[in-house]
Amino acid sequence: MLTLGVNIDHVATLRQARRTVEPDPVTAALLAELAGADGITAHLREDRRHIQERDIHLLRQTVRTHLNLEMAATPEMLAIALAVKPDYVTLVPEKREEVTTEGGLDVAGNLERLQRMVYDLQSAKIPVSLFIDPEPQQIEAAAKVEAKFIELHTGRYADAPTAEDQAQELGALQQSCDQALSLGLRINAGHGLTYWNVYDVACLPGVEELNIGHSIISRAVLVGLERAVREMKLAMLGQVAP
Ligand code: PXP
Repeated sequence: MLTLGVNIDHVATLRQARRTVEPDPVTAALLAELAGADGITAHLREDRRHIQERDIHLLRQTVRTHLNLEMAATPEMLAIALAVKPDYVTLVPEKREEVTTEGGLDVAGNLERLQRMVYDLQSAKIPVSLFIDPEPQQIEAAAKVEAKFIELHTGRYADAPTAEDQAQELGALQQSCDQALSLGLRINAGHGLTYWNVYDVACLPGVEELNIGHSIISRAVLVGLERAVREMKLAMLGQVAP
């Protein structure tokens, strides 16, 4: 059955805008689980722009579904993952100046380094997923380095300017799924998925989990706003605060 991993990075982004304690991504994770999230995803970036190490440690203690730690393939992150022991790790490329993860990991161009990283994590019983573009050579490379999972980058599909381009990108995702399955890789997918474009990706053969963040947190801000304003009016009257 297809599962949903909720990415809570954007809750932390809002907190870090004021460097204060709210909104707390750990509380957000709990609420997401109560609403049916099958897993929680958090990306500890090298520049710590949203999720902090404190969050990862608390999430490890509180998440009741599964914790997917997204991280760059660096020695610093490897040490953190080995200490925290998330349920799985998704290796992503990271550039300091990017707004979000822009492209997939170049597994084919970094075979040796990634093979070692995958080995170190999987030897510690932490399955590894590689976030890659839907390209044959990257899928082949993911199988070569013996990662358990790939996460197909759905950004090009999500950002396609026309319906025709989108259909073409969906075709590429479909072919990637077929190839990955034939190589024994398990498949997740994510990035840029919204309430409008998720269904076709959800129907892709063999995809086990979708990791979705921005669209869910964006919607949460809007569907929660009326209640938040009402509660502030009550607080101003000295009546029950939330
Ligand atoms: N999967 C990976 C590997 C990501 O880096 C991200 C973004 O942090 C997502 C999924 C979620 O993307 P979005 O926030 O666009 O739903």
